[in-house]
Amino acid sequence: MNASVTNDGRQAAALLNDDNRFKLAVFGANVSGGCSVTSAEGTIAVNWPESRHIAQLADQAGLDAMIPVARWRGFGGETNFNDRCFETFTWAAGIAAVTERIQVFSTMQVPTVHPVRAAKEAATIDHISGGRFGLNLVAGWVEAELRMFGLPQLPHDERYAVSDEWATIIKRAWTEDTFDFDGRYFKLPSVHSEPKPMQTPGPLIMSAGQSPAGSAFAARHADLQFIFLPDISKTREIVAAQKARALEQYGRKLKVMSLAYVVCRDTEAEAREYYDYYVHQKGDWQAVRNLAAGAVGNMQSADATDPAMLEALLAGYGAVPMVGTADQIAERMRYLADAGLDGMTLSWVNYAEGISQYQRELLPRLQALGLRH
Ligand SMILES: Cc1cc2nc3c(=O)[nH]c(=O)nc-3n(C[C@H](O)[C@H](O)[C@H](O)COP(=O)(O)O)c2cc1C
Repeated sequence: MNASVTNDGRQAAALLNDDNRFKLAVFGANVSGGCSVTSAEGTIAVNWPESRHIAQLADQAGLDAMIPVARWRGFGGETNFNDRCFETFTWAAGIAAVTERIQVFSTMQVPTVHPVRAAKEAATIDHISGGRFGLNLVAGWVEAELRMFGLPQLPHDERYAVSDEWATIIKRAWTEDTFDFDGRYFKLPSVHSEPKPMQTPGPLIMSAGQSPAGSAFAARHADLQFIFLPDISKTREIVAAQKARALEQYGRKLKVMSLAYVVCRDTEAEAREYYDYYVHQKGDWQAVRNLAAGAVGNMQSADATDPAMLEALLAGYGAVPMVGTADQIAERMRYLADAGLDGMTLSWVNYAEGISQYQRELLPRLQALGLRH
């Protein structure tokens, strides 16, 4: 790779540097139920000792990042899935203060916060964390949440036009002394923001848009794009296309990651048995139908009524299943890494147990495969 084709000088950032070939981040540890729509025991309850414990376990296990979910109301059903959710800027500031090396993200629904305020909040957490902060930018997804703010859900692609200006402003606030911004959605005189973030030119930006407009936004603004992979045999072509677009259109190096949920047991039969328990016996199908209608129904790429999609959403927010023995899961990660994927988020029904098990069982196998240090 041409040395001039890099986004910045943030080579210390765990998700950008070359330390671990396959990056792994904990996803959704700040929201009730986490990523599994089930009444099975041990899911995320949402209290501070729990958040702190999980983040410290992840930090000690050498995982690369904590990525929270931004939710403002639950999806109903028996569990009211995701109803309790720590606000992600304040959560990240707290997590930053109790961890040493893991990267800490906030998830930011663009329409709900002004970019000048967000620039300063992000810079502040970047200082608290010693340069470990990152932002997950969401253009606007669940309409019922935006209504709570008195905001309209804009037509799909216009959300990304707003986000484009928003991201441009926050990046300029992180790097320029004082500037005027004269856009279609924002007209801001003499924008100024001090202190600058510790990272130059600023905290990492991730985006999880899946649509053409979302992917174009990621190519232009994000360091990391997160994609759903309903069919992992297509990984190579999808990842290559996203990276090529960022490089060819914007001269930017984009990392592409996906999502996984983990059920790891001594035998495949035990893993499948537990899957059956939390999905088929304890699954909250009403909540998942609401989630599908309220969120996935907004996506151009997904059919919110497809039974396989509903089950995947219930089992792990539509992520790639990692259900089996540690050897099988490590092998699946190797397959994805070989297809060009830079890493994944991870979720479990029980995060604390899952992270400890990761460190004990999975990490040595990933090290042996050359995926992790
Ligand atoms: C890893 C990941 C994390 C996401 N986090 C959130 C979130 O916390 N809150 C939210 O409203 N949407 C979240 N989204 C939704 C995306 O930002 C995006 O709106 C969705 O994938 C649809 O893509 P599209 O806007 O390109 O159609 C997330 C998606 C993924 C894959």
